[in-house]
Amino acid sequence: MKRLEGRVAVVTGAAQGIGAGISRVLASHGATVCLTDIKDSVELTAENICKDYGKARAYRMDVTKAGDVEQAFNKIAKDHGRVDVLVNNAGIYPRRKLVEMDEEFLHQLFEINVFGMFRCAKAVLPGMMERRYGKIVNMSSVTGPMVGTPAGGQTAYGSSKAAVIGFTKALALETAQYMINVNCILPGYVYSPSAFGIRGSKVGEDGEAAMREFGRKIPMCRQGSPEDVGNLVLFLASDESSYLTGSEIVIDGGNILQEEYLGPYSPK
Ligand SMILES: NC(=O)c1ccc[n+]([C@@H]2O[C@H](COP(=O)([O-])OP(=O)(O)OC[C@H]3O[C@@H](n4cnc5c(N)ncnc54)[C@H](O)[C@@H]3O)[C@@H](O)[C@H]2O)c1
Repeated sequence: MKRLEGRVAVVTGAAQGIGAGISRVLASHGATVCLTDIKDSVELTAENICKDYGKARAYRMDVTKAGDVEQAFNKIAKDHGRVDVLVNNAGIYPRRKLVEMDEEFLHQLFEINVFGMFRCAKAVLPGMMERRYGKIVNMSSVTGPMVGTPAGGQTAYGSSKAAVIGFTKALALETAQYMINVNCILPGYVYSPSAFGIRGSKVGEDGEAAMREFGRKIPMCRQGSPEDVGNLVLFLASDESSYLTGSEIVIDGGNILQEEYLGPYSPK
């Protein structure tokens, strides 16, 4: 028996990277996955999942637009009847120093990384409360609530990801009586297309090689994969985690356990 057989899951920011990986894992465990994204390429991602993993369908949705969110969730409800699992994954992580930051940058980042979660959760909660069943998984990060990078420029991103933890805990308390589980995930360095630019590779360089090289700084000697995060989401979306709510789970190959970076990790 597949662990999510018969469940309907919605993943935001699912066209690529971690969201696409989560969608592949959930589909391969029997869920019907509704991949949502602002990018049209979400169609192709869903098509590939249908070919190789399981049931998937694409919906265009910008989490910063209340009308878009309402329309997409109405369509999903019409197509699939309900939402059992919501994965609030859509997020951006541009770096900018506070002194160079304008209001527009700050607002856009919070609109996507934080307020988008409010909108999507609000769209699915009435149905989940009525059925007394639901799983909400929010994507935070170790960056902000736990660590920072020496390069700086992360006041906006870090505070948005710390806000996700507060949102998760408050919502978990608010919905526990309806048997709804709300948890969040704090990934460390995960291999994804958007991370190439940030982690040392320049346009035109081999991004994948740069990511592999970067993985040598991590105690488990590799970067995380989108599927690593997907497997944790699978647990949080399944009934195996039914007594877990309001939790923040770090998934980073042991990276934040290091007090300081002393060169490539070499286990004795
Ligand atoms: N990659 C990492 O190392 C890492 C580490 C910690 C946390 N995270 C978090 O994981 C999540 C996914 O990151 P990723 O690395 O896969 O990034 P990514 O850029 O590869 O994927 C993010 C997706 O979100 C979509 N998106 C952006 N704005 C949107 C909007 N307004 N509405 C709907 N979709 C939108 C993008 O189109 C993209 O497909 C983010 O929340 C990020 O902060 C990533």
